[in-house]
Amino acid sequence: MRASRYMIFLYAAMIGVPLLLLIYSILTFAGISAEIVYLRILIAAGLIIYCISAAIEVYSHRRAAAAKGVFPVSKGEEHLDSGRSKGREVKFKVARFDPKDGKMKEYIYAVKADRFTTVLDALLKIKSKQDATLSFRYSCRMGVCGSCGMVINGKPSLACETTVFSAAKGAGEISVQPMRANPLLTGLVTDFDDFFAKHKEVKPTLFRKDETEKLEAKEAYNQDAKETAEYLPYSYCIMCGLCMDACPVVNTNPDFLGPQALSQAYRYHMDSRDEMGDERLTSIDKLTGAWGCEFAGACSRACPKGVDPASAIQLLKADIVKNEAGDIF
Ligand code: SF4
Ligand code: FES
Repeated sequence: MRASRYMIFLYAAMIGVPLLLLIYSILTFAGISAEIVYLRILIAAGLIIYCISAAIEVYSHRRAAAAKGVFPVSKGEEHLDSGRSKGREVKFKVARFDPKDGKMKEYIYAVKADRFTTVLDALLKIKSKQDATLSFRYSCRMGVCGSCGMVINGKPSLACETTVFSAAKGAGEISVQPMRANPLLTGLVTDFDDFFAKHKEVKPTLFRKDETEKLEAKEAYNQDAKETAEYLPYSYCIMCGLCMDACPVVNTNPDFLGPQALSQAYRYHMDSRDEMGDERLTSIDKLTGAWGCEFAGACSRACPKGVDPASAIQLLKADIVKNEAGDIF
């Protein structure tokens, strides 16, 4: 059974049981007993559906949570000579993964910063002047490539878009950790293989039925402003993975497709040039797809590009139900 059918029954039970209980109370109060037997059967059936669904939810989350471990952080080295450059001294507590012993260690560095210094600038300074063994990923230094994601003061952030002073907030101290949703590789670098596999799973490309038209294009694929507005806000994704790191479901259920892949499914689903039909929707109609989202909204708050994956997933759910309701009735 498709997940949307299961969810339709679940929501029907959630709304139906209280409604039936109300009717039952009114009939009992009015002394009408003939319909009560049927009502009891209906209420019992609703409660059974509800209990089975709740048990499936709890079981799948427990199993997924048990699969993911948490690394304790032990003490590493201290590099507290910030040199003679100008600026205010800020202490960096960097939790680094050491692949040799599989442990997280906290290294402490002191860096001089001014109001323009970003966390990425500070890490580059540390790497060139204090500790060349510090590993992290970056490329564009301007919030475009999406490769410098890390957890800064507990919040998934882009290191090149976070200034040292805004992160330190007068405390004179910043904590930096690798992203938590991906497997650790070394230092602050994590493995994005699973992230890209999930992205690919939702078929994030424009699909056209006529395969020859890309070789013999006859005209432009024009769109009016309304058609463009349907998907444009979701097309700004730079695949940094911060939304995945912020999502509580991704962090407890590694099988969940997650906000990045699902928001891109919505982006292509809403593009008037796409001719895939319902195939993309059907592929994410599962408990580890759109229905895995519990609408915490942390993904949208973490996104540095203003994409709103949480809303995209709810709109996908609505479209799946619309399709499914059409099939059932
Ligand atoms: S939706 Fe936002 S946070 Fe998520 S990967 Fe794309 S740009 Fe990054
Ligand atoms: S280095 Fe490219 S987004 Fe930060």
